[in-house]
Amino acid sequence: MPTYKLLLLPGDGIGPEIMAEVKRVIAWMNAHRMGTFEIEEELVGGACYDQHGVAITDETMRMAEAADAIIFGAVGGPKWDKVPYDARPEAGLLRLRKDLRLFANIRPAICYPALADSSSLKREVVDGLDIVILRELTGGVYFGEPKTITDLGNGQKRAVDTQVYDTYEIERIARVAFELARKRRNKVTSMEKRNVMKTGVLWNEVVSALHERAFKDVELEHQLADAGGMQLVRRPKQFDVIVTDNLFGDMLSDIAATLTGSLGMLPSASLGEVDPKSKKRKALYEPVHGSAPDIAGKGTANPIAMIASFAMALRYSFDLGAAADLIDQAIAAALAKGLRTPDIASEGTKTVGTRAMGEAIIAEMEKLVPA
Ligand code: IPM
Ligand code: MG
Repeated sequence: MPTYKLLLLPGDGIGPEIMAEVKRVIAWMNAHRMGTFEIEEELVGGACYDQHGVAITDETMRMAEAADAIIFGAVGGPKWDKVPYDARPEAGLLRLRKDLRLFANIRPAICYPALADSSSLKREVVDGLDIVILRELTGGVYFGEPKTITDLGNGQKRAVDTQVYDTYEIERIARVAFELARKRRNKVTSMEKRNVMKTGVLWNEVVSALHERAFKDVELEHQLADAGGMQLVRRPKQFDVIVTDNLFGDMLSDIAATLTGSLGMLPSASLGEVDPKSKKRKALYEPVHGSAPDIAGKGTANPIAMIASFAMALRYSFDLGAAADLIDQAIAAALAKGLRTPDIASEGTKTVGTRAMGEAIIAEMEKLVPA
């Protein structure tokens, strides 16, 4: 069995607490010979800033380049509100995405039946929801230049962000969308604002052309991103794979996540291109939720999104689909037993903390593992 090298970056806030549960899952996998994982751990975000004055060090970037996968917690918090823009905690995450060229961000939104009542929407609208937001992650307004604030000298300042997309960037994310859809319900919805943005016009054109050329068997539909956001809360089950740009994807994935009952439930994968020689791809796995500084250190954070992110690593980086299924089933089983962290608690369920939820999931894995 090959040995896989994981770089763990717990980050700030609840990051370290939920990462501790993933470490226990990894130890369990090693002990049960379901994979051989070596782990390294480093600082990122505010925690790294406090120690090194930057949100991620060059040395950690080198380790990230060399790792088979990166498991990332969360960054940020009010403590670092005043640090210089380039050293703010989020800059560590953005550098990882950009420098490792992790252009494809897969954000599934799945509504576990046990949680349908925690959603802000009616049960029938979300029960059984299973969609994917595929977000372009290394382009658009997040990274476009110029990105400046200029003093106009008359008491006014001018801020500029630049939304920019080249054909190849749109085409490669659209390709991932179509390939993903083929393994699911075979439908892609592309979202942009072609009615006001040139990048939207090009986005629409490139997605349509690729569809015509190589993916005619997949159903393709276009929605304007604002209308798409509305549809996402009105009738979310109409979607299968939604493909969209960096900024729209940021917003739409938070909306999609909250449909499922809790932001604390959803994992994500950020993938690079497959290297034609090694057949490997760079990848980072992280929960969709943030660092939740308000509950950090209390032992009450929901570790499920973090653990499910590790399961995604098993699936997408190591081709260990059966082990990933085992973890996903164990999560569903722990929920079905009525265990809930406070963020997903509801009447008639038992509220537990981070550690107890992690333990319960491992106990379920133990039951599910083939003898
Ligand atoms: C996300 C987050 C990040 C983003 C922040 C932390 C920079 O909101 O991953 O969705 O805006 O991409
Ligand atoms: Mg976001």
